[in-house]
Amino acid sequence: MATRTTRRIAEVMRDAHEGGEVAVIYGQAGLGKTQAVKHYCEQNPAAVLIEANPSFTALVLMRKLATACKLMSTGSLNDLFEAVADRLRDSGRLIVVDEAENLPLRALEILRRLHDETGCGLVLSGMPKLVTNLRGKHGELVQLYSRVSVVLPLGDSLPDEELAEIAKSALPQADEETLSEIVKQANGNTRRMSKLMRGAVRTANKNGIQLQAGIVKKYSSLIIR
Ligand SMILES: Nc1ncnc2c1ncn2[C@@H]1O[C@H](COP(=O)(O)OP(=O)(O)OP(=O)(O)O)[C@@H](O)[C@H]1O
Ligand SMILES: [Mg+2]
Repeated sequence: MATRTTRRIAEVMRDAHEGGEVAVIYGQAGLGKTQAVKHYCEQNPAAVLIEANPSFTALVLMRKLATACKLMSTGSLNDLFEAVADRLRDSGRLIVVDEAENLPLRALEILRRLHDETGCGLVLSGMPKLVTNLRGKHGELVQLYSRVSVVLPLGDSLPDEELAEIAKSALPQADEETLSEIVKQANGNTRRMSKLMRGAVRTANKNGIQLQAGIVKKYSSLIIR
């Protein structure tokens, strides 16, 4: 659902898209980055979304980009780069890489060149380690970082008001006491909160009783902090 955080993310992505600029969105695990980034890409088909993972090399990245651009994903790194660059040049598209902390230096450099050559906006989203990677291991700036126009730091946790909004919309039947227990036990983390809500609802259903604060409390001791 739309919250202040999802709106802030969408705004930064829109600016990068319209201005053909580079934006970096970063924050701790489970704050809702992926959810918000995906949502923007669903609403804006001109966005090309790549979800990186630890197996990403520069070649894997280019193959994924080629596939996303409906191009053949075979050939050398250079062939792929040229085909993708031709396709994206002045296309008004936006390149989005989520979980970008997984990208090795070479892949980051390729994105930089792609951005330079195509004029497409670029959004990198991920964990705080992403910023360390962009600054370079030994404090030397990766060329890409000097091109970043907007940085959106989401911090370590979400404010309780936002968690409360999400909880209320997920569990419209729950009473205030239950909702505030959910928010309290979530500890600023949306992922922890969704696990908690799912588990507590399951426990309540299994026992044929209504969801209540006590169940939430009990279930929260079972999940990782
Ligand atoms: N705005 C929201 N409305 C409803 N649920 C949300 C929202 N944002 C996040 N969540 C819930 O929180 C969970 C974590 O969100 P998400 O995977 O987007 O986090 P993340 O910041 O990408 O984490 P990571 O850094 O670990 O990839 C999701 O499973 C989702 O259920
Ligand atoms: Mg994520």
